[in-house]
Amino acid sequence: MTSAPPVLTLTESEPEPSTRPLVVTDEPQLLDDLLRLAAAAGVTVDAVADAQLARRYWNNAPLVVVGTDRVTACVAAGLPRRRGVVLISSDLDDGGVWEAAVRIGAEHVAFLPDAEAWMLDLFVDAAESDQRRALVVGVIGGRGGAGATSLAIALALASLRRDLNTVLVDADPLGGGIDLALGIEDRPGLRWPDLTSARGRMPRRIPTEALPSLGDLAVLSWDRISPTAIPPSVMTSMLTGARRGKDLLVVDLPRFPDQAAAIAMQMAEIILVVVPAEVRAIAAAARICDTANRHCADVRVVVRLPGPARLNAVTVSDALALPVAGVLRHDHGLATGLERGEPPGSRRRSSLARVGMRILSDLGLTHSDVAA
Ligand SMILES: Nc1ncnc2c1ncn2[C@@H]1O[C@H](COP(=O)(O)OP(=O)(O)OP(=O)(O)O)[C@@H](O)[C@H]1O
Ligand SMILES: [Mg+2]
Repeated sequence: MTSAPPVLTLTESEPEPSTRPLVVTDEPQLLDDLLRLAAAAGVTVDAVADAQLARRYWNNAPLVVVGTDRVTACVAAGLPRRRGVVLISSDLDDGGVWEAAVRIGAEHVAFLPDAEAWMLDLFVDAAESDQRRALVVGVIGGRGGAGATSLAIALALASLRRDLNTVLVDADPLGGGIDLALGIEDRPGLRWPDLTSARGRMPRRIPTEALPSLGDLAVLSWDRISPTAIPPSVMTSMLTGARRGKDLLVVDLPRFPDQAAAIAMQMAEIILVVVPAEVRAIAAAARICDTANRHCADVRVVVRLPGPARLNAVTVSDALALPVAGVLRHDHGLATGLERGEPPGSRRRSSLARVGMRILSDLGLTHSDVAA
């Protein structure tokens, strides 16, 4: 039998066990397929053909993928039973596979190419369990026109100013496209319609570099074409991919969440509800906050002042029984700036910029935790 060379050359002196997924196979085709899937998932794997070499990685790997060709060798090498072992075969008619699965204590048996998508997700999950991911913050208006989109943008720009790796996602199909509010509507890059109308299977991982950007800010936006619903799986996939290796992911949420927006709410660690200090806005916001709270445990209000009856932030917070994340004062240049394609919060001294900075500090986002 010809041996496929190990992907990493392992020597006795290699010090630390790896926390990368481990692939054990001596079949070149199977190895090729698994490496291709790992690359698509953006993970590096340790791949070995020799069961004795596998021992070094066996216990610490978040995931172990064993080809049917190496089961006997692994069992003979006395590798201990562990969780997260996947037995992989490229032969659907292999009658011995189930017996082999029992021998090695596999949690799953998968056949390629049928299980490619499943395997890809498994690699992604394994990588994410060991990787830093962005804090996901949702922003939603307590009533129409409250200032949610403006705050989402201001937060993202404040984050950029702190050199944080930031992604801004427009999850409001009826918002007109957040790219317009940023003045980047002419920039090339993928937008939601490109991702939802693609024929056939969408590539599951789209790099943020493929999105339009404002400086270093990657933006996933709607455009001016009539929106179609984002399939929940596409939202999950995009947010999961976009938060990998980033510091902050800001999602502009619609007030009436569709399925995709509900997923975004569930993925958010914090939801900020922008509430103008008005009696009717508070009444409307109460319902929005209830919905947000059903999906996310940490919902906070950002109070927009001044209101016509001079209600203050504490009154709004008490009425909604939610903590105040910030106070947003009237930003004089905002409306005219928006008409000129000047993003909200782009002027450092504006109320939006300041509240954005303040919220980031409260969230502990003061510097990038992600290695450049
Ligand atoms: N802090 C602010 N100061 C002054 N005007 C503001 C402020 N925030 C928002 N506005 C005004 O309100 C308008 C709506 O803002 P924005 O689009 O951010 O609200 P929204 O809550 O996202 O609205 P929608 O319900 O359409 O999603 C802006 O065009 C701007 O004129
Ligand atoms: Mg909006």
